[in-house]
Amino acid sequence: MLDGLTRLEYRGYDSAGVAIYSDGALKVAKAKGRLQVLSDLLEAGAAIHGTVGIGHTRWATHGAPSDINSHPQVSRSGKIAVVHNGIIENYSALKQFLESQGVPFTSETDTEVVAQLIEYFYDGDLLQAVGRVLHRIEGAYALGILCSDTPDQLIAVRRDSPLILGLGKGENFLASDVTAIIKHTRDVIYMDDGELAVLTRDGVQCYNHFLQPVDKEISHVDWEIDAAEKGGYEHFMFKEIMEQPEAVRRAIFPRIRDGEVVFEDFGLTDDYIREIRKIYIVACGSSYHVGMVGKYNLERILRIPVEVSLASEFRYREPIVDERTLVLVISQSGETLDTMAALREARRLGGKILSIVNVVGSSIARESDEVLYTWAGPEIAVATTKAYSTQLAVVDLLGLYFARRLGTMERAEYDQILQEMLLLPAQMEQVLERREDIQYYASQYFNHDSVFYIGRNLDYALGLEGSLKLKEISYIHSEAYASGELKHGTISLIEDGTLVVALATYGRLFEKAMSNVVEVKSRGADVLALTTESHRAEMAKLANGLVTIPDTNPMLLPSLGVIPMQLYAYYVALQRGCDIDKPRNLAKSVTVE
Ligand code: G6P
Repeated sequence: MLDGLTRLEYRGYDSAGVAIYSDGALKVAKAKGRLQVLSDLLEAGAAIHGTVGIGHTRWATHGAPSDINSHPQVSRSGKIAVVHNGIIENYSALKQFLESQGVPFTSETDTEVVAQLIEYFYDGDLLQAVGRVLHRIEGAYALGILCSDTPDQLIAVRRDSPLILGLGKGENFLASDVTAIIKHTRDVIYMDDGELAVLTRDGVQCYNHFLQPVDKEISHVDWEIDAAEKGGYEHFMFKEIMEQPEAVRRAIFPRIRDGEVVFEDFGLTDDYIREIRKIYIVACGSSYHVGMVGKYNLERILRIPVEVSLASEFRYREPIVDERTLVLVISQSGETLDTMAALREARRLGGKILSIVNVVGSSIARESDEVLYTWAGPEIAVATTKAYSTQLAVVDLLGLYFARRLGTMERAEYDQILQEMLLLPAQMEQVLERREDIQYYASQYFNHDSVFYIGRNLDYALGLEGSLKLKEISYIHSEAYASGELKHGTISLIEDGTLVVALATYGRLFEKAMSNVVEVKSRGADVLALTTESHRAEMAKLANGLVTIPDTNPMLLPSLGVIPMQLYAYYVALQRGCDIDKPRNLAKSVTVE
């Protein structure tokens, strides 16, 4: 269990705990802090013996991180233990009710309400008691439940938070991600919303909301355990940066055949594509930044209006969506709660949902009309790198696929871009090979406490991601600005020694980018510039530091340009001694609102 939790630590890591049935009772061990603290407390597992248990790493929502607020949460008699991902929205009313019935509470968590409520309804049949609780709790939850009266079974419940079941030989598992159990089995069941499951040593039975048995399909996970290990690299983030050429190759190459973009099992018909009047791109975080690049590229080549929206905004803004609106949902994890909610809102309004997702079988993938997988393999570092790159590649392929059907691109240009796409992995390798230059600049500037990223068009979209990477892992304040907006405020912040990262890869606007560099330099800024080989000489005259990427079709520039952005953030964070794979306050998969 400790090993499985290690692999889930990216989901949250401010406290951890386990409950294990041992010698006739539930033994609970919990500790604030990283999993290592719990592991030490348990003498790496040796301290408690047992063959059934539940464990959890927490990211506090209700109640500060503390030993008491860690999961598992236990009912008053100590009989029932619960681990929970998500938020019980009506916990306060339920807590009041239980307190009025004389139930004492020990923690500040919403989760304790679940444990106490199960015990309140429990009369010897755990499944029935859980069923009754589910009719009373509201919110998002994945639950693992263990009761000392029935130590041969575990109950799993899922609503809006990911949960999978792993089928072993003489052992079965529940987990919020395949990575936790891949060492033991590759046969998994993806639970659907509203479902429960009873796991015993010998089998797994799923039930619907009404506790009627349901048959579930067993899926086979085909990636290797090594994919979720560091493989000699110091950090997952660095490993994943280095894996990008291969990941992008996997995302692109099988989809270009005989000079055409090909999507297997793709249900969007040519007639439907010709009817699209608007494209919404909906996502969070870096996936949203992919959407920003996508907007520039798709609008230019398709001549269809594209609007990019943060999922958390989209879901509450009464978006204008109808059956001629294509809603492109982008998500690495396929589990981001806001993105999921936005998807459902778009579907309710009649839009067609096409998602670009990395995690196979994830909730977003399963609820979409069509899915294009990014095939990046498991991404472990909280700050995304290879998932971003593969998402970008798939959005570009999609644009080309549509352009061909809409007749909005000359055949020669289409052919040329496909050729250039095939060169991308090798060009990415070239950029990675020159990483020492970036490491050098990071060592020069790592102590600047405020950094501005400026660029226009695709370079602005790229700047957003560069700035996010830096602030996520190095805790340096940074902002990305559309260069044309500098004069409308930001320039007042530029003073002697302010670091400006000037993105100037987009050839059509190179001269304008140069003017902006002059503008900030004349106010004292130090400028680190990114441009293409063909503009190296000109930019070198102005910038304090310069990194170049190979020339390619403008549409593909961000795919190369993002690598120096990632490496810069990585090396700065390394210099500053930050915990790169697990930055403070962040989680990889945000399954709460
Ligand atoms: C979290 C991660 C980001 C990610 C975002 C969206 O904030 O730390 O790296 O971009 O969620 O996640 P998704 O899985 O939907 O792409």
